[in-house]
Amino acid sequence: MQFGYFFSISVIIQQMKLTSPLGDLPAHEFLAQYWQKKPLLIRQAFKDFTSPISAEELAGLACDEMLESRIIIEKDGRHPWELRTGPFAAQDFTRLPDTHWTLLIQDIEKHLPELTCIIDAFHFIPDWRLDDLMISYAPEYGSVGPHVDAYDVFLLQAQGKRQWKINTHIDADAPMLDITALNILQDFEVEQEWILEPGDILYLPPGVAHYGISLGDCITCSIGFRAPTHVELVQSYLQTVIEQIQADKHFSDPDLCTQQFPHEITLQSVAQLKQTVADYLSLDPQSLYNWAGTLLSEGKEGFQAESVSDQPTMSGFIRRWQASQVLYRNTALKFLYITADDTLHFYIDGQHIDVAARLSDYAEWLCSSLEISWDKMNRYPDREALLSVMHGFYCRGFYYF
Ligand code: SIN
Ligand code: CO
Repeated sequence: MQFGYFFSISVIIQQMKLTSPLGDLPAHEFLAQYWQKKPLLIRQAFKDFTSPISAEELAGLACDEMLESRIIIEKDGRHPWELRTGPFAAQDFTRLPDTHWTLLIQDIEKHLPELTCIIDAFHFIPDWRLDDLMISYAPEYGSVGPHVDAYDVFLLQAQGKRQWKINTHIDADAPMLDITALNILQDFEVEQEWILEPGDILYLPPGVAHYGISLGDCITCSIGFRAPTHVELVQSYLQTVIEQIQADKHFSDPDLCTQQFPHEITLQSVAQLKQTVADYLSLDPQSLYNWAGTLLSEGKEGFQAESVSDQPTMSGFIRRWQASQVLYRNTALKFLYITADDTLHFYIDGQHIDVAARLSDYAEWLCSSLEISWDKMNRYPDREALLSVMHGFYCRGFYYF
């Protein structure tokens, strides 16, 4: 692969319509048998699959400071398993060894909405679990080394061949190489191995050690899922609880009894203190939805919405829409919702917006449409109510023209 001849980051992404990668395997069976449990190799998950992006385009994107890119050089770098972080310059690619390196670009779908079609094929998993699409390019023998990820991942072979070796019995404290920030396992024993070709997918639950080695020019898409840590869950829950507590309310003990030793904290006092805390822990349903919705829709660092500086009036917004014809969704943001208690609660970018429940039929459509044409919007019977929602969303930076 010759990387010396790309000059711009103009990207011609091929947008495709993909069917479920599970083929004949019903989604509920995949979830019951494999999800978070054991690996699954799906041969020809996407038939006649061609990579939506080329190696040159990936290299171009790696030169853009807006994208998070890394190059890992196993051999013939400054030291074994050298990690270089982007943005890169075009010359950086001309100075790379011929083999044994990998370029990886994280969160790529958040910059190139056309690539969300790959992610959409995995919607048998709820969207709030989705983390990102990472795409890697490697020449022959490129690898990021044997490692373990904390998240579920679908490894889709997009171009060329990659050999995947896995081991499902790696201890959580297995020793790592100490030469790099890459968490490469010191020892890796192969339990199973396959060669993946374009359209093949290997699903791996968290904790399964994996080692992918490219067999010639190779592009691999990783559809990664996220799950909040227990610490994140409890921390954010407690924050919600704390926000509801009156700041000047103090512990009270009108039923205090005499005690023999004044320096002793009696077990009864401990129980009373604990009860004071416990009384706050059960959130009312509305607060509970808002806690879950805002937490799960929070944008990743660097992908937060920016509210529009010149906020248009409703009629100004309609004029802009008519002039531009198409309103685009900011695909870097998480669009989620909960329907409960006669209200549609939208959670977008960690923000919470309540809408009348009669718009619930539009919720999924709103969250999944990449673009909304004015003509289409104009035809909806709930046009007025929808316009008011869209106006609010536009002002908050969830959409753009
Ligand atoms: C790669 O694309 O080379 C690495 C993907 C992974 O191991 O998660
Ligand atoms: Co991995």
